[in-house]
Amino acid sequence: MTSSIRTYDLWKEYDTGGHDGIALRGIELDIARGQIIALLGKSGSGKTTLLNLLAGLDEPTRGRVEIDGMDLQGLGERGRTELRRNKLGFVFQFFNLLPTLTALENVLLALELAGKPDEARALASIALVGLAGKEGRYPHELSGGEQQRIAIARALVKDPPIILADEPTGNLDSHTGTQVLELLTGRCRESGTTLVMVSHSLKTCEYADRILRMSDGRIFEEESCEGLAP
Ligand SMILES: Nc1ncnc2c1ncn2[C@@H]1O[C@H](COP(=O)(O)OP(=O)(O)OP(=O)(O)O)[C@@H](O)[C@H]1O
Ligand SMILES: [Mg+2]
Repeated sequence: MTSSIRTYDLWKEYDTGGHDGIALRGIELDIARGQIIALLGKSGSGKTTLLNLLAGLDEPTRGRVEIDGMDLQGLGERGRTELRRNKLGFVFQFFNLLPTLTALENVLLALELAGKPDEARALASIALVGLAGKEGRYPHELSGGEQQRIAIARALVKDPPIILADEPTGNLDSHTGTQVLELLTGRCRESGTTLVMVSHSLKTCEYADRILRMSDGRIFEEESCEGLAP
């Protein structure tokens, strides 16, 4: 089995001025290439913290992360930036679209940063998430759900080996949410992309190969979503 994502005894403590700021407590994770993971857990359990560490956006207090066998710490800041541009698609919990760029420019930027500018491909990715015709809009001219879909188009457009998605359907009504879920998991299955999806929705489990639940900074493998609180 080839590991796509591995963590070894991963700890994260935030500096919170005296309180217990431990958000991750020794996470051991081994995710094979092409696996689709649903990551569930209550608010504050550490899901976003974990994704940020997997993407090299933040540094662990202890332990390490390997992406495709490469140690993130060993890559240095520049190496991590390169890795993010070329290997990772990230859908943030709060979209993170650049407000001064149109939808098309936001998606295109991901390709430009990866050294592969291609407007036709950006347009195709926007069409894929059902937003053809809205590519010229600025983020504030799009609904929350539409912004979310542009953020997904931006992650998909590079066809990266790994996508990390923090509540990709959190702001969508259940019908649109299901559509986006099918789209995202379908594309990842087709292209063998590893997908880690944070969600509060138990529906996500139906689309996943593995279900991981976080609780108070620890991670547990679950057989099914039955009995898990939404
Ligand atoms: N920048 C920060 N500084 C200090 N504490 C933080 C910071 N970010 C997160 N935390 C704390 O770390 C813990 C885990 O937060 P995290 O954002 O990872 O949770 P989450 O599982 O993503 O929650 P949610 O479902 O609400 O998004 C929480 O107790 C939170 O208060
Ligand atoms: Mg979060």
